[in-house]
Amino acid sequence: MIILGIETSCDETAASVVADGTQVLSSVVSSQIAVHHPYGGVVPELASRKHMEALVPVVRKAIFKSGIYLKDLDAVAVTQGPGLIGSLLTGFSFAKAYAMAINVPCIGVSHLQGHINSVFLEPNPPAFPFTALLVSGGHTSIYYVTSHINAEIMGSTRDDAAGEAFDKVAKMLELGYPGGEIIGKLAEKGNPYKISFPRSFLDKSDFDFSFSGIKTAVNRYITKHSKGYKKIICDIVASFQEAVVDVLSYKIINAAIQKRCKHIAIVGGVAANQRLRNKVKKDAEIKNIAVHIPSYRLCGDNAAMIAGTGYHYIVNGKKSDINDDVYSREIF
Ligand code: KG4
Ligand code: ZN
Repeated sequence: MIILGIETSCDETAASVVADGTQVLSSVVSSQIAVHHPYGGVVPELASRKHMEALVPVVRKAIFKSGIYLKDLDAVAVTQGPGLIGSLLTGFSFAKAYAMAINVPCIGVSHLQGHINSVFLEPNPPAFPFTALLVSGGHTSIYYVTSHINAEIMGSTRDDAAGEAFDKVAKMLELGYPGGEIIGKLAEKGNPYKISFPRSFLDKSDFDFSFSGIKTAVNRYITKHSKGYKKIICDIVASFQEAVVDVLSYKIINAAIQKRCKHIAIVGGVAANQRLRNKVKKDAEIKNIAVHIPSYRLCGDNAAMIAGTGYHYIVNGKKSDINDDVYSREIF
C-alpha cells in the first residue's frame, strides 16, 4: 500500500511517500525558519500563508522523488491535529481535495501518534508494549504504547514543553531561533556541571514534568551575572541542558520499569539532542532496556511519520469522513 503523507501542523511544510507503513520512498521538508527567525518564534498567520505557497511544490517534489506515478497512490494521510489551526487547515483542506481528485481515501492522522510511530520507519523497531517519550516544541509527554494506533498517556508537562524551554533560554541568551539545535551545539563545548540548575522532578513516582522553573533559574543567573555571563555561555547552556536531560531520562526509564517494558522510544524534535540520546541509552543499558530513537531527519516534523501512521490507521479499519475538521489540542 502506497501512501502520500502531508504535514503542516506548525512551521514545516512536508510531504512524503511511504510504502507499507515502513519504507520511506521520499520525504521532503520545507522549513519556514527564515520567515519566523526575525520574530523569535512562529507567527501563526505567516505560517499559514507560507504553507499555502509551499504545499503544491513540496507535494510534487515528494511524488517525483519517490519514483511512483500518481495512479500508484492508495491513500492520502494528513495531520489532523494537534497544532496551529490555520496551519493545519491548509494541509488538511489540500489533502482532502487532492485525494478526491485522484479518487483515493483521505485519512486524518494525529501528529503525536505520527511522532511515536516514527520509530517504525527505522530498522529494528520496538516490540509492543513500550513506553515513549515525546519531546518537542509543543509537547513533553510519556505514553504507554500498546499498538500503532493505541497509546495511553502516563504524564505530561504542566507548563512549558522541553523544546519550548530550549527555545526560550536561547532567546534569553540572544542565541537565535529555534534554540534547541543551537544550544545542543554550544553545550558540546561547555561544562555541564558548572552551574547546578534545579531538576524539577515534581513527584518522583509520577510522570509529569515542569520546565518553567529552570527557565526562571537561568534568567535569574544571567541577571545576577549580567557583566560576565557571556564569557561562560557554553557552560550555562550545557548546565541547563544537563538539568533538562536528567529529568527526561529519569522519568522515561522509570515509566518503562513501572510498566515492565523492555523497550523505550524517544521521539520528537528534542530527540535530536545528542546529550539526551546518549544519556537515555547509558541509563537504560544498566536496566537492560533497549532504546529506539529515530535518525535526525525523522525526529523533527516530517510527513513520513504521517504516511506511516496513516497506513496503520487504514489496516486497523480507522476511517475519516469528508466532513472531518482539524483540532488544536491533543485528543488521545
Ligand atoms: O517535533 P518538532 O520539530 O516540532 C514540534 O512538533 O514542536 O520539535 C521542534 C522542537 C523545537 O523546540 C526545537 O528547539 C527542538 O525541537 N530541537 C532541539 C534540538 N533540535 C530541535 N532541542 C534540543 N536539542 C536539539 N538538538
Ligand atoms: Zn512535532
